[in-house]
Amino acid sequence: MASRGAFQLNVLLILAFAATAFSALSPYYYEHVCPEALPTIKRVVEAAVYNERRMGASLLRLHFHDCFVNGCDASLLLDSTSTIDSEKNSRANQNSARGFEVIDQIKIEVDKICRRPVFSCADILAVAARDSVVALGGPSWMVPLGRRDSTTASRTQADSDIPSPLMDLPALIENFKRQGLDERDLVALSGAHTLGFAQCFTFRGRIYNETNIDDDFAEERRKTCPRNGGNTTLAPLDPSPARFDTGYFNNLVEEEGLLHSDQALFNGGSTDELVKAYSENARAFSADFAKSMVKMGNIKVLTGEAVFWCCLGLCLVVPLSLILRDMPSYPFDKQVKIVIVTMAIHNYIRRHAKCDHHFEKIENDPNFILEDNDRDDDFQEENHNSNTPGAREVKKLRDSIAASLMRA
Ligand code: HEM
Repeated sequence: MASRGAFQLNVLLILAFAATAFSALSPYYYEHVCPEALPTIKRVVEAAVYNERRMGASLLRLHFHDCFVNGCDASLLLDSTSTIDSEKNSRANQNSARGFEVIDQIKIEVDKICRRPVFSCADILAVAARDSVVALGGPSWMVPLGRRDSTTASRTQADSDIPSPLMDLPALIENFKRQGLDERDLVALSGAHTLGFAQCFTFRGRIYNETNIDDDFAEERRKTCPRNGGNTTLAPLDPSPARFDTGYFNNLVEEEGLLHSDQALFNGGSTDELVKAYSENARAFSADFAKSMVKMGNIKVLTGEAVFWCCLGLCLVVPLSLILRDMPSYPFDKQVKIVIVTMAIHNYIRRHAKCDHHFEKIENDPNFILEDNDRDDDFQEENHNSNTPGAREVKKLRDSIAASLMRA
């Protein structure tokens, strides 16, 4: 019995290490491992938004700025170190991106409720964005989950990939296209500017120099955003910055977009029609916004490795997370031992895989079924040079591991 186990162990494990990256986000990713995580995030976001309505806008923007720089991998949250040039210091984020302390608080509470750090920061950013929109009266959507966090960040990449408020329509379209997002996504996602505020220096050029702007609106904005100074004075991005509605699109149609890049969406170009449609149809805007948020949340996500389990001609793809998620939270030194032993087994099996001619038989004859007798003969034959006491010990070990695996 144990020897049959050894054979099956080979079949399973050797091929299992033909690991492959596998993008498999799912809204149910944490359902078993930590069902309390999502309600916890919602609770912390709601409390933060209750405390300050603008925080909902700021959290939504964090997810956007995370996803546009090398994918949604929480790289935005990494501080500078000797090897990391933090994205927090990029042009778009410095003295502008906010809400990091709320994300920190969510992470602490989620780790506590889950009793271990299973919920990724990239997923927290995605869920917090959704919960913020809901808290401010916007649509809800299922957030696909299972993103892995990055260990690196890039300020240079942030400077080149986060769109500038000075961009014209072609540049905006191109910028979104590079992220796999189309014109519809651009317009729908820009609708996030139905929430929150912008600092004077980001729209000064527009209110003093541009002609496609309503006079009264420009005049009003100039009162709090002087030609010189007052760089950080805030103005709302639409008339109701704490309510998710179509005010932003109505503004664009009235030439009252605050940022140059906002008005670029309604300035005689290919997106005019969609802006008009959203201004007249809140449902269409909400539905498209939710759809585009899921699409944005999918940009270049890192997911857990998946393994191919191939056994007797049948191959299954199993995300490693499924296998690992019920891993007990052992003390650190025990975890280190597990990794070392696992690698030792891995290397042992890998080295011996080449001379396991049962694989060859299965490869050549899909109907081949290994009999116990057959196996013993073959086993003796293939190991005739390694029947030393040491090798026998290793075989015993291999068999006992196989037997326990088969029992599991
Ligand atoms: C289309 C290109 C975009 C440009 C050029 C742009 C630019 C900006 C700028 C300059 C600000 C003001 C920042 C400040 O003054 O500190 C801002 C605020 C904001 N942006 Fe965007 N943005 C864009 C798209 C998006 C997208 C796709 C989202 C989310 C899905 C988003 C969400 C927000 C929110 C919610 C705020 C207000 C934040 C707050 O009040 O803290 N933006 N954006």
